[in-house]
Amino acid sequence: ATPSGPYDAVVIGGGPGGYVAAIKAAQLGLKTACIEKRGSLGGTCLNVGCIPSKAMLNNSHIYHQTKHDIQKRGIDVTGISLNLPQMLKAKDQSVVGLTKGIETLFKQNKVDYIKGAASFVSPTRISVKLLEGGETEVEAKNVIIATGSEVAPFPGGAIEIDEQQIVSSTGALELKEVPKKMVVIGGGIIGLEMGSVWSRLGAEVTVVEFLGAIGGVGIDEEVAKQFQKILAKQGIKFKLNTKVMSADKQDGKVFIKTQSAKGDKEETLDADVVLVAVGRRPYTEGLNLEALGIEKDNKGRIVIDDQFNTSVKNVKCIGDVTFGPMLAHKAEEEGIAAVEYLHAGHGHVNYNGIPSVVYTHPEVAWVGKTEQELKAAGVKYNVGKFPFAANSRAKTNLDTEGSVKFLAEKETDKILGVHIIGPNAGEMISEAVLAMEYGASSEDIARTTHAHPTLSEAFKEAAMAAYQKPIHF
Ligand code: FAD
Ligand code: NAI
Repeated sequence: ATPSGPYDAVVIGGGPGGYVAAIKAAQLGLKTACIEKRGSLGGTCLNVGCIPSKAMLNNSHIYHQTKHDIQKRGIDVTGISLNLPQMLKAKDQSVVGLTKGIETLFKQNKVDYIKGAASFVSPTRISVKLLEGGETEVEAKNVIIATGSEVAPFPGGAIEIDEQQIVSSTGALELKEVPKKMVVIGGGIIGLEMGSVWSRLGAEVTVVEFLGAIGGVGIDEEVAKQFQKILAKQGIKFKLNTKVMSADKQDGKVFIKTQSAKGDKEETLDADVVLVAVGRRPYTEGLNLEALGIEKDNKGRIVIDDQFNTSVKNVKCIGDVTFGPMLAHKAEEEGIAAVEYLHAGHGHVNYNGIPSVVYTHPEVAWVGKTEQELKAAGVKYNVGKFPFAANSRAKTNLDTEGSVKFLAEKETDKILGVHIIGPNAGEMISEAVLAMEYGASSEDIARTTHAHPTLSEAFKEAAMAAYQKPIHF
């Protein structure tokens, strides 16, 4: 077949990394195509990740609040009941609206959207198995691999995901009824977010986590403890330092065998639904990387240098399929930087300025170093903390759980890390990211006016606490 192109840039994968790279490339005047095999744009994030999970988190929170928390606010409501099919529909509508929106952006920016599965023939030639049937070839001066990640299976194949009774995050976004009992394997972000959703909707949720703390990689240890207490108060049960060994289906139930991390205690739990949330792994199936000699590491991640180049010339790589945190905004930043390298020879991502947010209620958000990291590195630091219980807006909103914690370098007062549990922590963390991008000190924040009464005053007062003293605590 005569290949289409030649394109200046061909992006493989239409997730947050790939679609952003494609739009940026076209905006910079490069002739660009994006190949996506899913049948819709937006990748994991928009189709089965960030977006549908946030729809369920938001609406399950409103349901739970209406049912359990609204009378004290002077609102009497009777006959509250869950309409799960409608909640799932609302979620699906948000997904469809956003994925279609990216198609429109592609058209506006003149990105060619090729629907099919890409496979390398050579570094500059890609064959595409089209979704509508048949194959085509595309010629590319430069390729950006952005094929993302997939659910990591349970190690050793001891637990098989059927997406009905034993589900991954994808199945957990589609349950047709609220399970009476749910066991979540893994107390990382997916386990806590999806566990929260089904707990609020009425399930009895137990989270089994191998490590001694929840929240996954990068969470501040003190915050993780506070977070666990808050979730436990909401009714989620935790079994920490406990390893799941197997899960077997029997008589409509699943029986989960666990072992203490030390190996001295065994237990069997039963559940109607089990969520396996033990991580994600890079996805490169069908790309034919071996033929090109594109290097991967022992975790299956495509190896890149600091300019996103793979081991093969003119082939770059970004997002979940390579190093770094598996986060949509990280993939997006890399998409832009990789294209800027292509176009102008330079680009930039500040990996110390990538925030993490857990969208439970309250939310948990952080950026920069944790206290345990600073201790391990022997860095001297000041801590400034301020609880939302002392913040006027949180008090008027009857939503006072959590606190803001600043970590600032002792000698220079430069902000090294910020850790928040609290209402809207996910929005508030952006202020910390911006401050750190500009190399701010906690005094800079402490001397910046924050509107009253807002939750962000807690942020300012935590900075005051790191620098001198807060006023309201
Ligand atoms: P992906 O989004 O995985 O996109 C890769 C795309 O490439 C896919 O659509 C795939 O079909 C396509 N593809 C693969 N191979 C080929 C091929 N050979 N040819 C053509 N196309 C191909 N992150 C956050 O930042 N915030 C959140 O709130 C959040 N919530 C999440 C919730 C859940 C339940 C999950 C599972 C993930 C969540 N994430 C969240 C993580 C986020 O989804 C990922 O970090 C992000 O999607 C990575 O983007 P990407 O572009 O690298 O890859
Ligand atoms: P994760 O790596 O965050 O957490 C997995 C947890 O499972 C770990 O704490 C691990 O110790 C535990 N575990 C592993 N094997 C176990 C076993 N046999 N028994 C008990 N516990 C076991 O992975 P998760 O939660 O699956 O999420 C994957 C990724 O998706 C995240 O790391 C994140 O990058 C992304 N994500 C981001 C979100 C956000 O930004 N809000 C939301 C959801 C996902």
